[in-house]
Amino acid sequence: MSVQPQVRRLTLTDLEKRHRASEKLVMLTCCDASFAALSEAAGVELLLVGDSLGNVVQGQESTLPVSLSDICYHTAAVRRGSKTAMIVADMPFGTSQISPEETFRNAVPLMAAGAQMVKLEGGAEMAETTRFLARRGIPVCGHIGLTPQSVHQLGGFRVQGKSETDAERLLADALALEAAGAAMLVLEALPAALGETITKKLRIPTIGIGAGAQTSGQVLVIYDMLDISPGKKPRFVKNFMAGAESVQAAVATYVREVKAGTFPSAEFSY
Ligand code: KIV
Repeated sequence: MSVQPQVRRLTLTDLEKRHRASEKLVMLTCCDASFAALSEAAGVELLLVGDSLGNVVQGQESTLPVSLSDICYHTAAVRRGSKTAMIVADMPFGTSQISPEETFRNAVPLMAAGAQMVKLEGGAEMAETTRFLARRGIPVCGHIGLTPQSVHQLGGFRVQGKSETDAERLLADALALEAAGAAMLVLEALPAALGETITKKLRIPTIGIGAGAQTSGQVLVIYDMLDISPGKKPRFVKNFMAGAESVQAAVATYVREVKAGTFPSAEFSY
């Protein structure tokens, strides 16, 4: 499938239209102006200012130390560097867990910095907060499955939803978030069959990271897919830099493979 050049910034309405047309959605993490410009020139539609920047930029062991001002700073940089991509900003640990009102207050500087949507980790327990934000003009992306902010509760970075009970709970979480008004849902580290089941039950798009090829779109951490980040990568990370002539060519290959539905293949799925 050919990638149509985008001439203005993608809106939620554009996103919904592409999803209704069964177009795969392409997201990458991004935390600076240069990668923002390069990624969207290669066809990336959604830039996620993810709190994984704690790991790959700050050198932290987890995403827990990332602050709201860190995400605001990087969101503003991404906004300045991009013209066409939709910008989604993560709500870091501690900024969305206490109450809907406090979450709204914390989302305000992210939207002011240039985000068009905020991402919250958590399932049905985040439905009330999702509803509160969505009804007050802030589009929300949910994030279920492996939620790195809960790494200590989950007992490590493990694939989620392997048992029938866990799979049913994750499906119920997804439905609760959609009913609460979430605009999109990230599914992280799930068996591919569960990624597909959840996607088929929802009207909103799902963005998979280690959730198989049948989700509505894909996201990867850019430092991982360019093989910049040190250490062992999760199974779902493909090194798009291998054999690529340039960073932009590597990102363009990722875009092409996601749009064609060929990434992730079984090798990169659970
Ligand atoms: O912070 C991040 O990079 C994320 C992705 C893993 C979805 O939340």
